[in-house]
Amino acid sequence: MKIAVVGTGYVGLVTGTCFAETGNTVTCVDIDSNKITKLMSGEITIYEPGLEKIFLRNLKEERLFFTTNLAEGINDASIIFLALPTPPGEDGSADLKYVLGVADELGKLIKPGDYKVIVDKSTVPVGTAEKVRAAILKSAAKASPTGGGLEGAAFDVVSNPEFLREGVAVEDFMKPDRVVVGSSSEKAKKLIGQLFAPFVRQGNPVIFMDERSAELTKYAANSFLATKISFMNEIAHLCELMGADVDMVRRGIGSDDRIGKRFLFPGIGYGGSCFPKDVQALVNSAADVNYDFKILNAVIEVNEKQKLHLLPKIKKYFNNNLKGKHFALWGLAFKPNTDDIREAPALYMIDALIKEGSSITAFDPEAISNVRYLIGDRIKYAESQYEALKGADALIIATEWNEFRTPDFLKIVKHLKSKVIFDGRNLFDVAAIGELGFHYESVGRDAAKTSIS
Ligand SMILES: NC(=O)c1ccc[n+]([C@@H]2O[C@H](COP(=O)([O-])OP(=O)(O)OC[C@H]3O[C@@H](n4cnc5c(N)ncnc54)[C@H](O)[C@@H]3O)[C@@H](O)[C@H]2O)c1
Repeated sequence: MKIAVVGTGYVGLVTGTCFAETGNTVTCVDIDSNKITKLMSGEITIYEPGLEKIFLRNLKEERLFFTTNLAEGINDASIIFLALPTPPGEDGSADLKYVLGVADELGKLIKPGDYKVIVDKSTVPVGTAEKVRAAILKSAAKASPTGGGLEGAAFDVVSNPEFLREGVAVEDFMKPDRVVVGSSSEKAKKLIGQLFAPFVRQGNPVIFMDERSAELTKYAANSFLATKISFMNEIAHLCELMGADVDMVRRGIGSDDRIGKRFLFPGIGYGGSCFPKDVQALVNSAADVNYDFKILNAVIEVNEKQKLHLLPKIKKYFNNNLKGKHFALWGLAFKPNTDDIREAPALYMIDALIKEGSSITAFDPEAISNVRYLIGDRIKYAESQYEALKGADALIIATEWNEFRTPDFLKIVKHLKSKVIFDGRNLFDVAAIGELGFHYESVGRDAAKTSIS
């Protein structure tokens, strides 16, 4: 099939590359000419495990193309994916200006004799498919010299929310747990079903539904997962207050099939480009229909506080005075295996520590250049996780990269001023690290019992 993907960010680039990998001819479109120039010359613009190899292969085999020109990109495509940003507007609702802006352009470009399926992959509020359809029809009518515009039959709008996780995006896209397709058009459903057939050969379902249900499914999924995280973070608080161990509680409840093992890890809050904005957007969408989504308001409140969960512990340890203290920070990305720093808890930690008068040297395997671009020399950056430790009063861990899990503790001891670790991701065994003589504090585990500093 011939496919266009409009928006070549985390979702668009993975989508385009994976569709090319299954033999389709894909043209990715973006307004960022810098990005497109790099991609055309074989330079990948995001870090995502496994992506570069298939990106380069499909580029070489001429199944994957890039352009800044929308007209050229969609010209012979029968399916046009929209993988555009839907950032929070001023009030926290999803801002549809990118999606509707492209819909408006499409209205001018789709010809009456064509049949094109426009697939919304962006995370968008309920009712957006109808808005996209209306925007296309309106601009087509304006653009037509006779005022006739497009007939309804020239295109269909489908909602196909994306569930990939950054860090394992290629794997998630190639072998999705499920594909959700929201459409009331049999013709569009058939086409999209054929496109996804190679991805669901193992029997995972393509679930067809109406557009509105598909749009809500995405928000419900992200909000539910965020709820699980905030719930466990509240349990972690209770563990600290009651002397219980959240690792034990997590294992105790996670082995119940009804609850499941995943998304039960407490930490310093969820971040990223999706959970924070999607949970808030669902609260706003609910308010628009006069529904007060109480649980999600609490989820957001808990998460806001959780990002700075380590701060009082650090302050207490340093007698409430962090002025002049120097910290090593491991992890900047909002989660491991990505260079994405959007809403990363590490950034909140950096801000708070600088406000307290401290300085920071940070290391992250992939996200340093993005952070440097955002905050410049407000902090120092290290070439390695051990270099970051030099002369620091304590180590703070904000992201659970694998290389942080079993570090060389002798090197840590050698470089740190004193053996102090504040771990926002519960990477180490409390008893074992206590035996090594560290003052170690984490989330929801009894620091008082094990600290021997
Ligand atoms: N990142 C994720 O893990 C993820 C997962 C599932 C769903 N989503 C959703 O997918 C959508 C895209 O997310 P993302 O993380 O890929 O965003 P992104 O910011 O990484 O990428 C968006 C791209 O769209 C481009 N763009 C903006 N306006 C354009 C226009 N008029 N024409 C062409 N290109 C344009 C931008 O330059 C950028 O490259 C969002 O709605 C997001 O909520 C994201």
